Amino acid sequence: MDAQPLKLVARTISGRYGKPFDRHFAYWKVQMDPLYQGVGGLLAGSSLPVLDVGCGTGLLCFYLLEQGVLGPLHGLDFDPQKIAAARKAAEALSNPPVFHQGDARDPWPDISGHVCLLDVLHYLPPDAQASLLTSAARHVAPGGRLVIRTGLKAENWRYRVTLMTDRLMNRLKLMKSPPVSYPEQGALETMLNGAGLQLITARPLNEGTPFNNHLLIFGRGTSLESNLA
Ligand SMILES: C[S@@+](CC[C@H](N)C(=O)[O-])C[C@H]1O[C@@H](n2cnc3c(N)ncnc32)[C@H](O)[C@@H]1O
Repeated sequence: MDAQPLKLVARTISGRYGKPFDRHFAYWKVQMDPLYQGVGGLLAGSSLPVLDVGCGTGLLCFYLLEQGVLGPLHGLDFDPQKIAAARKAAEALSNPPVFHQGDARDPWPDISGHVCLLDVLHYLPPDAQASLLTSAARHVAPGGRLVIRTGLKAENWRYRVTLMTDRLMNRLKLMKSPPVSYPEQGALETMLNGAGLQLITARPLNEGTPFNNHLLIFGRGTSLESNLA
């Protein structure tokens, strides 16, 4: 998306939030983080439900709505303030996303479609990541995708900046948990293959940022929707 339309989308989304901090955060995050365009481009043609686990203030759901994504949109997060902000922002919409407050380690709402885990895995230890990924795989419908963005463990400056920033966000109380464990791509693949999903694509998703973030897309065998790469 060109800078101008993206600015417009960011203004539309941010204007719905009740608190100035949430408005400013949404306005800049939607424009600066390549995440929303990356995932939005992927899911744009689909009408399957979307479940965004660790949805924060709901930016992905609101971005997908602006992109005309047709399926029901759901977000889940354990931070009550973030869910309250997301619900407030959804109030004025005629087709609002549904935001659930809950811990991703507990059972999820009964939704089958695409599952997004965006910048969430590293808040959990490896054993909890494994059970989260198993839950995620169970909620991926035939033709659906599991979309993961995560910082990957690495020996490079991007990894160190990612770790320092995530620690700082927790110290500033902007994030409830500190980072616990960044996964490695091979381990994610092994776990998800065991749960019946195959890796479709993996690429860095960090343009314009100093982070070591990667986008990994998994699907189920031969039933992949051809328009979703
Ligand atoms: C870095 S933010 C990412 C927000 C959103 N996915 C995005 O990319 O715009 C991580 C989110 O995961 C949530 N989170 C972390 N651990 C969680 C857990 N165990 N259950 C539910 N949400 C969790 C946090 O509250 C936070 O909103």
